Amino acid sequence: MMFIVLLGPPGAGKGTQAERLATHLGHAHIATGNLLREAVKSRTSLGVEAKAFLDRGELVPDHIIARLVAELLDTPDGHAGAVFDGYPRTVAQAMALDQELARRGTRVTLAVALDIAADVLVRRLSSRRICARCGSTYNLITNAPRQGGLCDRCGEPLVRRSDDAPAVIRRRLEIHRAEAGPIEEHYADRRLLAIVAGDNPPDVVTATILAALRRTPAYRPRSSPDLSGVSPGLPGR
Ligand code: AP5
Repeated sequence: MMFIVLLGPPGAGKGTQAERLATHLGHAHIATGNLLREAVKSRTSLGVEAKAFLDRGELVPDHIIARLVAELLDTPDGHAGAVFDGYPRTVAQAMALDQELARRGTRVTLAVALDIAADVLVRRLSSRRICARCGSTYNLITNAPRQGGLCDRCGEPLVRRSDDAPAVIRRRLEIHRAEAGPIEEHYADRRLLAIVAGDNPPDVVTATILAALRRTPAYRPRSSPDLSGVSPGLPGR
């Protein structure tokens, strides 16, 4: 059972890679951003509390996130290993995760920081579209839907995420810049950090992360790993 943390700025490809890794490894994909957006959409008390933070591109307070993640780790899926996408975001969250996993007799296997230039991020986020029903992510430039404006999976119209407005993107990038150093240090100090170039094609990024994962002592492939669509491993940076 592995617990993989994906770090990186907005638009670095955390969601794209987390989905691929979770499918490949048979692990849960825990994306705090998606969970928060779902809570906002269904107007739960947590969603009402979180909405203003999401709209401004600010971080949601740690206690809300801690509740969300602890609940998921207690499910059978969460027990069996997880790929965390967008979590932890602060050193306090990283320490809370360490404690949650230690209580379960385990620890983070690998933290991957996706490294990418700011101008690429802005371009990616401005051209990202998501399906409001199933959450599938597209990109009008690099991963366009087959039928203009409609989701390939469920046929629903695609929308722009409300926090992909230019002013909110700028704020999210600023916040990332402030938080990224300390959190990367947290994992580097524990010899758990791999820095991976995020500006390569998605298959190459996945293969690089898997190569870094294979070098960890906890690496356990599924009995019959599905390597289709994943190019041979390349060394991490
Ligand atoms: P969250 O949903 O986590 O957003 P984010 O971190 O800003 O990251 P994004 O989802 O924008 O980007 P991504 O890195 O997943 O990239 P993607 O794969 O989509 O958080 C949203 C908000 O929720 C936060 O601002 C905060 O308010 C709150 N929040 C969430 N977690 C929190 C926490 N732990 N604590 C406190 N608050 C929290 O890719 C982007 C685009 O690029 C897509 O169009 C994709 O198709 C394309 N793409 C991806 N990879 C490639 C590639 N290799 N080549 C070309 N195109 C690519």
